[in-house]
Amino acid sequence: MAFSVSKDFQGKGLGKILFAKLAEAALENGIAGFIAYTSPQNKSMINLFKSLPYTVHTTFDGDVLLLTCRFDETK
Ligand SMILES: CC(C)(COP(=O)(O)OP(=O)(O)OC[C@H]1O[C@@H](n2cnc3c(N)ncnc32)[C@H](O)[C@@H]1OP(=O)(O)O)[C@@H](O)C(=O)NCCC(=O)NCCS
Repeated sequence: MAFSVSKDFQGKGLGKILFAKLAEAALENGIAGFIAYTSPQNKSMINLFKSLPYTVHTTFDGDVLLLTCRFDETK
């Protein structure tokens, strides 16, 4: 998954709401979890991913950080 929030609206909780809506839609459609590729410097995406109620697994794919979670692995 990948999405962005317009700069003027970042840090206001929209990313968190979008993420929860995407998880809800994914669950309804039989999708097991999310995978996101991001820069290791992208603290807002990393923090956003980790603020959700799922266990997050992190690994590197070359220079890129790979974040994964499954909806059946809650914290
Ligand atoms: C990543 C992105 C989608 C987050 O959306 P957002 O609406 O700004 O995020 P939210 O306001 O919902 O914040 C969610 C969590 O992220 C963290 N966060 C948000 N902005 C942050 C920042 N500037 N620095 C560090 N952490 C941040 C907070 O931990 C927050 O949790 P909290 O509510 O418990 O404090 C947004 O910053 C963005 O569009 N960035 C550019 C595009 C991008 O990088 N997309 C992801 C590609 S994989």
